[in-house]
Amino acid sequence: MNNPDRLIIFDTTLRDGEQSPGASMTRDEKIRIAKALEKMRVDVIEAGFPIASPGDFEAVQAVARTIRDSTICGLARALEGDIDRAGEALKEANSGRIHTFIATSPIHMEQKLRMTPDQVVEQAVWAVKRARNYTDDVEFSAEDAGRSDIDFLCRIFEQAIDAGATTINVPDTVGYNLPDQFGATIRTLMERIPNADKAVFSVHCHNDLGLASANSLAAVRNGARQVECTINGLGERAGNAALEEVVMAVRTRRDLFECDTGLDTTQIVNCSRLVASITGFPVQPNKAIVGANAFAHEAGIHQDGVLKSRETYEIMRAEDVGWSHNRMVLGKHSGRNAFRARLEELDIVFDSEEELNAAFRRFKDLADKKHEVFDDDLLALVNDAGFSAENERIKLVSMKVCSETGETPDATVVLTVDGEERSAHAQGGGPVDAAFKAIEAILQTGSVLELYSVNSITSGTDAQGEVTVRVQKEGKIVNGQGADTDIVIASAKAYVNALNRLLQEQRAHPQQGNV
Ligand code: KIV
Ligand code: ZN
Repeated sequence: MNNPDRLIIFDTTLRDGEQSPGASMTRDEKIRIAKALEKMRVDVIEAGFPIASPGDFEAVQAVARTIRDSTICGLARALEGDIDRAGEALKEANSGRIHTFIATSPIHMEQKLRMTPDQVVEQAVWAVKRARNYTDDVEFSAEDAGRSDIDFLCRIFEQAIDAGATTINVPDTVGYNLPDQFGATIRTLMERIPNADKAVFSVHCHNDLGLASANSLAAVRNGARQVECTINGLGERAGNAALEEVVMAVRTRRDLFECDTGLDTTQIVNCSRLVASITGFPVQPNKAIVGANAFAHEAGIHQDGVLKSRETYEIMRAEDVGWSHNRMVLGKHSGRNAFRARLEELDIVFDSEEELNAAFRRFKDLADKKHEVFDDDLLALVNDAGFSAENERIKLVSMKVCSETGETPDATVVLTVDGEERSAHAQGGGPVDAAFKAIEAILQTGSVLELYSVNSITSGTDAQGEVTVRVQKEGKIVNGQGADTDIVIASAKAYVNALNRLLQEQRAHPQQGNV
């Protein structure tokens, strides 16, 4: 194909991805992910929902200040306060977009909004015009378009374009559509809306039936030129279309698509690891493109074929999505420069020499216990080294755990809480249970532990264990992570990390509430 159209990649990991229970991110974590997305040449980064909380506002503002090459987008309901807050947060962006939305399906209009279709159209037009006061780049979404009446969609989209929307987004909010049907919807909309040529048509698919990527691709084959997606398919409920799947399907099957993305796909694996380690949502081993087994050939017959000719069983090259860049190993003799250089390749840049030195000391400690340090070890170590320590009120000072056959395990834990040292002793069903009980005895949070999982970061008995915990209190759900070669210590770090997050501010949800 000579000149394929550009397929715009709109990443919403920092907004819809963050709506996964427990996946909330701090401002600094969002900046790290945004930098990795910019390096991958993502076109648009939806950085958050500025009206949700002061923290969300600051995060969008900080991402808008930092990122120069990608457009930064803020989400806003079709409400004055939302749009003004998004406009304010994006003021310093090199290129800023306001994404405003209102629901259009009968069930949402009647049950949630309690508005008539005419009122919804009027509100949408008003919202687009208001957003245009802040930027020429305005996206309008019809929430639950996947269950909306096609005539009504044609009407509202035509008027939104007339009001100044430059991107029209068609979300399958509840993941209800099937690929051929969704593709036909996009084609019909683009054919029937008289001013369709004045906007880019976009899709935003959820994965409730496991069809988010397939639906997005069907839409692209029928004319959509923007796909909204997330790294690792993170997102509300079953998640969103996975960026890596959409991008690699279009790249690999160029014969079937009249468009291509501008992405540097060799950054995909790095981005995936970064998002998994920051959010505490591990990637399943058999996940397409970014799963540990995605390019592993276990069966003898496959290995034989791949050795003779790679194409016998591989449709993509592992190095094209960044796997080969992840093999470099550091050891106890590696110096500070090698450490810094490798972290920079992983998009981790230190703000100060002290931060670098602290992380380097931890690296040396780890390299003493574990002879080869891999990229995943480094990511875990940097997360541990206090990149997100800014708001941490609770810190683990020390712990001692006794576990002996025939005896009840017990733990003594020392924490600092707002700088004040406190300790407690507790017994439990196992050493982790005892440690958690001691921590709760100090903090008295009244929270409930909903998930506890341990993953080995690399192979071998000297591997670091990465522990993820999910904690819930009064409907607020947070994840915490900790890594250590001692999994009881990793568990305590993860628990403390989650409880720190629990103490942070509460955020509003964009799709709840009246409009
Ligand atoms: O799923 C959805 O409809 C959304 C909108 C806000 C675009 O996330
Ligand atoms: Zn969504």
